[in-house]
Amino acid sequence: MTRHWTLDDIPWAQFDPTKVDPDLLRAIKAAALVEHNADDYVTYLCNVFADDPDFVAAARQWGAEEVQHGQALARWAQLADPDFDPALALQRFTEGYRLPLEATQSVRGSRNGELVARCVVECGTSSFYSAIRDAAAEPVLRAVAARIAADEFRHFKLFYDHLQRYQKTRPMGRLRRLLIALTRMREASDDELAMAYWCGNGCRDGYSRSAQSAAYELHASRVYRFGHIQRGLGMALKACGMDPQGWFSRRFAGLTWYLLQRRQRRLAAIAA
Ligand SMILES: [Fe+2]
Ligand SMILES: [Fe+2]
Repeated sequence: MTRHWTLDDIPWAQFDPTKVDPDLLRAIKAAALVEHNADDYVTYLCNVFADDPDFVAAARQWGAEEVQHGQALARWAQLADPDFDPALALQRFTEGYRLPLEATQSVRGSRNGELVARCVVECGTSSFYSAIRDAAAEPVLRAVAARIAADEFRHFKLFYDHLQRYQKTRPMGRLRRLLIALTRMREASDDELAMAYWCGNGCRDGYSRSAQSAAYELHASRVYRFGHIQRGLGMALKACGMDPQGWFSRRFAGLTWYLLQRRQRRLAAIAA
């Protein structure tokens, strides 16, 4: 299995505790758990694509890289907060959030749909880690995020290429793909990230999906600049067979940026 980087490539000795943003740290702890949980996604994807050995092999490599993302983020979070116990947090998270591991059909209705959803997730992660790479003051976090972002762009291409293969034999229309993409984007506020945020930050005050989801969003979304959103949405539209730099893409990015900023102001006001 080839790796583009390992934990030994990260300049851990350059860690500067004075530059840690405590709010971003809380979001990173949640992200570490979600990334670490990729083994379950591999099981699910290998079931759904059971008779496609090329994809199964690619999914195993992909999963190993995602788990490494979780390890790198957890290690950084431990440097920033020595009380953070990633093993305990991950155990609580996997007890609280389970994927449909026994499924043999994609929850998206088809393999094309599954691949569109996977592309959308990689658009989200590539944007998020690019934004952290560009916004974080702490140098080791920047180095970790840069490597992860590069992997996430490769992951998008991986799922996009397999999607193109399936589109050749059994094409799915642009509108259906777009609906799946929008559905997957909306799921960013579902239990997975909310539960990860709660478990990563000490399981305090009882679990409330809406409260944890809002807290995660407030702390995570501040790193974005317009360019990160625009690029991520363009890639998602590309997976739907649409022009990533066309009229619709530009309008979509502008509207999303406006809504994101408005929501961020509202969340900040509630938190204050
Ligand atoms: Fe990842
Ligand atoms: Fe990824």
